Amino acid sequence: MRILVTGASGLLGLNTALEASQQHEVFGSVNKNEIKTTAFTVIQSDLTEPGALDRLIEESQPEWVINCAALANLDDCEANPALAEKLNSELPEKLANYVAKGGARLVHLSTDAVFDGEHGNYSEEDEPNPLSLYARTKLSGEKAVLAANPEAIVARVNLFGWSLSGKRSLAEWFVNNLSAGNNIKGFTDVYFCPLLVTHLANLLFKMLELELHGLYHVVSSECSNKYDFGVRLARLFGFEESLIEPASVSQSGLSAARSPKLTLKADKLIQELGAPTPGLAEGLAGFFSQYENGYPEFIKGMKV
Ligand SMILES: NC(=O)c1ccc[n+]([C@@H]2O[C@H](COP(=O)([O-])OP(=O)(O)OC[C@H]3O[C@@H](n4cnc5c(N)ncnc54)[C@H](OP(=O)(O)O)[C@@H]3O)[C@@H](O)[C@H]2O)c1
Repeated sequence: MRILVTGASGLLGLNTALEASQQHEVFGSVNKNEIKTTAFTVIQSDLTEPGALDRLIEESQPEWVINCAALANLDDCEANPALAEKLNSELPEKLANYVAKGGARLVHLSTDAVFDGEHGNYSEEDEPNPLSLYARTKLSGEKAVLAANPEAIVARVNLFGWSLSGKRSLAEWFVNNLSAGNNIKGFTDVYFCPLLVTHLANLLFKMLELELHGLYHVVSSECSNKYDFGVRLARLFGFEESLIEPASVSQSGLSAARSPKLTLKADKLIQELGAPTPGLAEGLAGFFSQYENGYPEFIKGMKV
């Protein structure tokens, strides 16, 4: 397969492009963060520039497109709403239109944050209620993709893993602070069901192979609050777990609205796969095993 991964310098895009490159010919688009690798072809492209998307499609001629490009930082979205709208809503719609014309298959990435987190345990049938500008633009991106191309997959995800900057995911934040002996807070009232990014990438490939289409929750079969997630990670890595103080998000001072119970049900996907999605024990074990094998340094070493 010829696969185009947009956002290939990001947490999900980079790990996805690397996983895919083990079996496929991969093109990865990056914007500000150039990367060096022989695993896939890197294309620099600011996808908000007129004509950039046409050139990218022309150059990569993809059969599968995995759209990981986004303005995915909540506070950056609040600070720059026009850019958030362009990247999270308009770009996915354009991509869905292109892909529909060319006959390729598209996975567009969305987020658990489209829900307000009031009651949790959300299925694809539940009505979203986004609280932040990030989540609102992601929700309109989802709708635009499926309206333009009903054959596309929209995957609502949450994830952790090793990133180019070494600080993109919550799990890295725990590792960086605990290894430095810093006292930190872990939220006991914010829940999520994150997948290890490499597990997520492989689920996306399976969904493409199965020719699924429409909206799917692609999350771990097991959920946790962020404090417990940190404690489990600390135990696995042999860090001092008492460095993590249990705390409430209401005391955090974070500027963009956070949703408390973002637990999603992946039952629709699990039924299609005939197997559960990986649980947290599996995800954290995979994250630790990557650490032991020098994967974080390998990833960071790709930075130009
Ligand atoms: N991380 C999470 O926990 C999480 C949770 C739920 C959903 N998601 C969703 O998963 C997807 C991937 O997230 P992520 O965490 O991997 O994001 P990320 O690490 O912030 O990466 C974003 C990617 O988008 C690229 N990008 C930004 N502006 C661009 C532009 N103008 N033109 C072209 N590319 C541009 C970035 O390129 P440069 O860095 O090179 O500029 C980067 O490769 C997003 O759709 C996000 O909403 C993520």
